[in-house]
Amino acid sequence: MAELEVRSLTHRYGAKHMPQVTAVKDVSLRVQAGELLGVIGHTGSGKSTLIQHFNGLLTPTSGEVLLDGENIFRDKQATRAARFRVGLCFQYPEYQLFEETVYKDIAFGPRNMQLPQDEIDRRVRRAAQFVELPDALLEKSPFDLSGGEKRRAAIAGVLAMEPEILVLDEPTAGLDPKGRETILSLVADYRRQTGSTVILVSHSMEDIARLATKALVMNRGEVALYGTVDEVFSQGERLVAMGLDVPAVTRIFLSLRERGLPVRTDVYTLEQGAAEYLRLFGKGARA
Ligand SMILES: Nc1ncnc2c1ncn2[C@@H]1O[C@H](COP(=O)(O)OP(=O)(O)OP(=O)(O)O)[C@@H](O)[C@H]1O
Ligand SMILES: [Mg+2]
Repeated sequence: MAELEVRSLTHRYGAKHMPQVTAVKDVSLRVQAGELLGVIGHTGSGKSTLIQHFNGLLTPTSGEVLLDGENIFRDKQATRAARFRVGLCFQYPEYQLFEETVYKDIAFGPRNMQLPQDEIDRRVRRAAQFVELPDALLEKSPFDLSGGEKRRAAIAGVLAMEPEILVLDEPTAGLDPKGRETILSLVADYRRQTGSTVILVSHSMEDIARLATKALVMNRGEVALYGTVDEVFSQGERLVAMGLDVPAVTRIFLSLRERGLPVRTDVYTLEQGAAEYLRLFGKGARA
């Protein structure tokens, strides 16, 4: 299982004669095997730019990305290996479905890996089953699928590569609550069953609080906060100051504090909220 390390990574966009944008600035972090890292931050804070370095899709302007201690940009071979070990699912991945059939789309990655035909077939069917796409849909055109099915087909294409590190950029964006829940639970299942690392970019602080072991908060291309979910989410005031949406429970306790009540503000789960409520108002509340 792979450990991912990022050292002082900076990425500047900009073709000649265009103003340069420093999208990621001096980011360092280390993600241990089996972790679920949640990546949070405003629109334009550099989340997508950062994660596209993890499988070598983008090359850093400066800095390094290491997989098990080896720089993935060392040579072409190392970059190619990273492409297969780290599976990257883009924001709105369904726009990248392009083959004639769903089957061929899911098979695209494994085919690139030059696996034997029967292994490709095994992986396509397994991935489709994993994302709950019925066999009958495999021979259809991806354009005939519903929105949720397209999203799951695109994710299956990444899972079929059986990556050791699965990176998902806003995988639930634009889906209804049921579709969102399906995706999140299949991601959690994949991690549980394979022991893979998962890196999940999300706008939902509640989802990150519920699922992640570690959290990274990006702000204007830089790391604003990075630590365990507990370390990051207990800083509700800083998150709010950055204009981020904290979990509803945190919001309640922050506003109680604002009104002068001596409450803790490092509360981000319902259980913690209930405990803090009882500590403060326990008997009085019942009376
Ligand atoms: N291909 C590109 N060329 C030039 N600038 C870019 C390119 N892609 C992103 N940027 C700029 O880099 C910065 C970071 O963008 P990025 O897409 O990484 O942010 P993000 O956190 O993923 O945002 P969102 O939440 O909207 O997906 C922004 O200022 C953006 O405009
Ligand atoms: Mg993005």
